[in-house]
Amino acid sequence: MDNLNATFPFNRSRRAFLAGSLAVTTIGFSLPGIAATRTVADPFIERLLKRMTIEEKAGQLTMNGAQGIGRLVNPDTGPEPGLQTTLNDIAQGRLTGLFNADDVKLGRAMQKIAVEKSRLGIPLIFAADIIHGLKTAFPVPLGEAASFDADLCARTARATAIEATAFGVQWTFAPAVDIARDQRWGRVVEGAGEDPWLGSRLAEARVRGFQGGDLRADDSLLACPKHFAGYGAVQGGMDYNTADIPETTLREVHLPPFKAAFDAGALSTMASFNDTGGVPSTGNRHLLTGILRGEWGFRGLVVSDFNSEKELIDHGYAADEADAVYKAVMAGCDMSIQGGLYLKHIPALVKSGRLKMAVVDEAVRRVLRVKKALGLFENPYRSLDPARLDTDIRRPDTVALAREAGRKAIVLLKNDRSLLPLPKSGKSIALIGPFVTDKNNALGPWMVFPDMKSAVTLEQGVREALGANANLAVAAGSGVERPLAGGIEAAVAAARGADVVVLYVGEAANMSGEGASRVDITIPKAQVDLIDAVAAVGKPMVILLKHGRALELPNSVRNAQAVVCTWFLGSESGNAIADVLFGDFAPQGRLPVSFPRRAGQQPFYYNHRVTGRPSLTEGPPVGARYREVSTSALYPFGHGLGYSTVTYGATEISQARVPKNGTLSIKARVTNTGTRKHHEVAQLYLRIKVADIVQPLRALKGIRHLELAAGESAEVEFALTARDLAYVHADTVTRTDAGVFEVVIAPDAAAGQPVPFVLTGA
Ligand code: NOJ
Repeated sequence: MDNLNATFPFNRSRRAFLAGSLAVTTIGFSLPGIAATRTVADPFIERLLKRMTIEEKAGQLTMNGAQGIGRLVNPDTGPEPGLQTTLNDIAQGRLTGLFNADDVKLGRAMQKIAVEKSRLGIPLIFAADIIHGLKTAFPVPLGEAASFDADLCARTARATAIEATAFGVQWTFAPAVDIARDQRWGRVVEGAGEDPWLGSRLAEARVRGFQGGDLRADDSLLACPKHFAGYGAVQGGMDYNTADIPETTLREVHLPPFKAAFDAGALSTMASFNDTGGVPSTGNRHLLTGILRGEWGFRGLVVSDFNSEKELIDHGYAADEADAVYKAVMAGCDMSIQGGLYLKHIPALVKSGRLKMAVVDEAVRRVLRVKKALGLFENPYRSLDPARLDTDIRRPDTVALAREAGRKAIVLLKNDRSLLPLPKSGKSIALIGPFVTDKNNALGPWMVFPDMKSAVTLEQGVREALGANANLAVAAGSGVERPLAGGIEAAVAAARGADVVVLYVGEAANMSGEGASRVDITIPKAQVDLIDAVAAVGKPMVILLKHGRALELPNSVRNAQAVVCTWFLGSESGNAIADVLFGDFAPQGRLPVSFPRRAGQQPFYYNHRVTGRPSLTEGPPVGARYREVSTSALYPFGHGLGYSTVTYGATEISQARVPKNGTLSIKARVTNTGTRKHHEVAQLYLRIKVADIVQPLRALKGIRHLELAAGESAEVEFALTARDLAYVHADTVTRTDAGVFEVVIAPDAAAGQPVPFVLTGA
């Protein structure tokens, strides 16, 4: 295979819209122990740095959690006793900020102390985990990813930023951009799923949404793409576990969404808890300095993850606290959150000569630069205006957006004999399952400041949609993980008396998210017993799944007439589901994760490397396969039905041989063959046929959203250049080789007939 000499290093583009605040030239810097790159000095920051004591420097690198620190009972009479320690720390310049604070008035009072009482008046920064909305909950990120809609993700992130900044938050620890290929991992729910291309597009959209066009604006929320890096590859899907990731796979799969997020302007990142090949991320200089700063020219700050510098000791990677702090700072982890170890140990480490002041200065510079970029020095009270609590939280347009995002996140897996949509009148419906009237599991995991009361339940949504025509029987039938006394009997009776059964079953919110990995990615047995019993009644049955991951589905679900993924849809859950159930909105979501046939197939993802003995579907058992099940997905990545039917014509290419500077046009005709309007998400997949690293069977390279009226046909077109054909080579450099490729435009990752073309060396 010829090398085209066209290399595409990741660090090409510059974050243009930050030019005003961070327009500095990157220069090489070779002192040992100092970050590989440094920026040309900002005189304001340099002057400040010169005046800082080592304690104040360590303070700028130290953030504490705000939960449990006490309340400001009354700004005039003073704080609760516990809070006084924090206020003293602020006055002495021993804190850079707080995270997960829930009192904007207190935040403002703290800022006043920082600015007016501390020696240098350096403003605090307030961070929080605002993952999928603050008081208005949007779908969990994985659910929102099912929209395959970057514009939607940008809009929900913007709306989130408006609420969060009204609440006193200036920095969100989001988006999570970990690529997750093992559904046992609970944190699959926080990211965009298994595909790096989709993950990258949604990562950059979310960053743009959070930060807006001007980082200094009162409603701009600093983004923190996390967890850097390889966290999604924890072995066995067990949270916090070790990850063994070859450098090639790291660069091909796990790093691209981070790079996309930084190119979109994200100015912070969080080191992940896991180790990669034996080096915990918080102490991983190759990741935090070599790649991030050296290769990519990242000029933001790196924050540890909740005391992860201390965990270097637990890993057996550091001998004691001081050693852990030394290793984290040396690796390029600028700020410690939660444990206070930087404040405790940096001064002594510098005084003893082990840690060079220049290294600490560089970390402090990064923190101050970010604070400056956010406009905090000019306006320390930005995003600390209690008046905005009344105007910007749960605005009607934000709540409407939550409903839009909710319905766009819904994926229709199956709809035999067009059971859905249900008619709005004339049929009695049994609403069965533990989530039908439940608000607690509507929002989903990772809502730090939830407004549970505002969640719309399924029953509420259905009643609202049907009005006076509602003819409903409601039965919980079961608890989430435990049977309910008499539950199944009541549910069966409700099903017998109804024309249609809608069963709302799946996982509770706390079954996914941080620390919530599962061995069996199944619906809990108590609910499966319920589903089996209700299915035996023999009524047409719609299964609504609530889940934070792809699940193994029991037979009674597989055999139901209609099966719908509803993830955790947030505040407007019930309304969004009712919109789809009764056809006010036709489903258009697509799976961002592959549904396996059996849990034991994990890790399971469509874009796996091709084996030497491929056995993709049926056939004699000689290939890479299990004895029990086909290797194909039950529902593949990209799958999702609407209420109409659609066909794809053959994929056509503009030329069979493409010169290296040429552009290949790829087209297919997509036709709505049904009687309803249809929203199609056409997907372009690429295969590199021969390479010096075994390539994925298919890799997503583009998506197009199409609105087709009944009977309408449209041509969808994609263009690829040599740059789009680049891959990470064995030497870890990304470049394009001449050779044979295949492309296909298809409705999902398993469909369509790929077409070959050749990229010539000339
Ligand atoms: C630990 C989690 O891993 C991380 O995602 C989160 O941002 C921090 N805790 C702070 O709450």
